Amino acid sequence: MALLEVRDLHVYYGNIEALKGISLSANPGQIVAILGGNGAGKTTTLRTISGLLRPRSGSVMCAGKSLVGVDAHVIVGMGVSHVPEGRRIFNILNVEENLNLGGYLIRAQHQLIKERKAAVFGLFPRLAERRGQLAGTLSGGEQQMLAIGRALMSDPKVLMLDEPSLGLAPMLAKSVLKTVREIADRGAAVLLVEQNARQALAIADHAYVIEVGRIVLEGNAAVLAKDERVQKAYLGGFESVGSA
Ligand SMILES: Nc1ncnc2c1ncn2[C@@H]1O[C@H](COP(=O)(O)OP(=O)(O)OP(=O)(O)O)[C@@H](O)[C@H]1O
Ligand SMILES: [Mg+2]
Repeated sequence: MALLEVRDLHVYYGNIEALKGISLSANPGQIVAILGGNGAGKTTTLRTISGLLRPRSGSVMCAGKSLVGVDAHVIVGMGVSHVPEGRRIFNILNVEENLNLGGYLIRAQHQLIKERKAAVFGLFPRLAERRGQLAGTLSGGEQQMLAIGRALMSDPKVLMLDEPSLGLAPMLAKSVLKTVREIADRGAAVLLVEQNARQALAIADHAYVIEVGRIVLEGNAAVLAKDERVQKAYLGGFESVGSA
């Protein structure tokens, strides 16, 4: 069984079925990209895994333990961290204070907090330079680095990123995604939701394409990047994979 194993998730908003049987898995050291157009169900998938939404049916297992029905903060303690769409950092706290909040579960272990912060500063030297700066005054890219850094403070086995490059200048987007590769290389399993399919497939190992709540394609990221249907739908054109 994979480290993260999602099976046949069905998730509703009221009467609307947003996920119609999503299955996916991820292992340590792997970046698994989740691609798909607006409203496909990418965010819903991440929110269900992290316990913010409860599936009507299906299972989510991490390291052999079920996450369904478990409180979101307990899921963080079980090793699953989620960087939501839109960053949600605390603007009126400085960089270091935001990181401390990410280490909430280990707040009594001062040495460990220090080590994890040092590791985050190693990955994102710009954050180290700005450790005393209010988060609200950081650039968009720096805020994204901080949001990822904060999620890393709990030393997750599974890191889920919802559109980390959204709104960033191309160079910065590239640099953030390069760091995401580094995080996976250090042993985390990364679930990467991206609108930037080209860059996501370039760093990912495996990828899933979601359309209207269903997985319509999956496979090796390098192979999918060459797939004509993916190229048409996500690497230039606007048709859906389903209609190709
Ligand atoms: N809070 C909500 N209440 C009702 N419907 C919702 C809610 N959030 C999402 N949906 C619907 O669920 C479906 C999946 O949405 P989701 O946000 O997961 O898509 P997404 O793939 O993340 O899209 P995007 O690329 O725009 O972020 C969409 O049809 C959306 O309208
Ligand atoms: Mg989304």
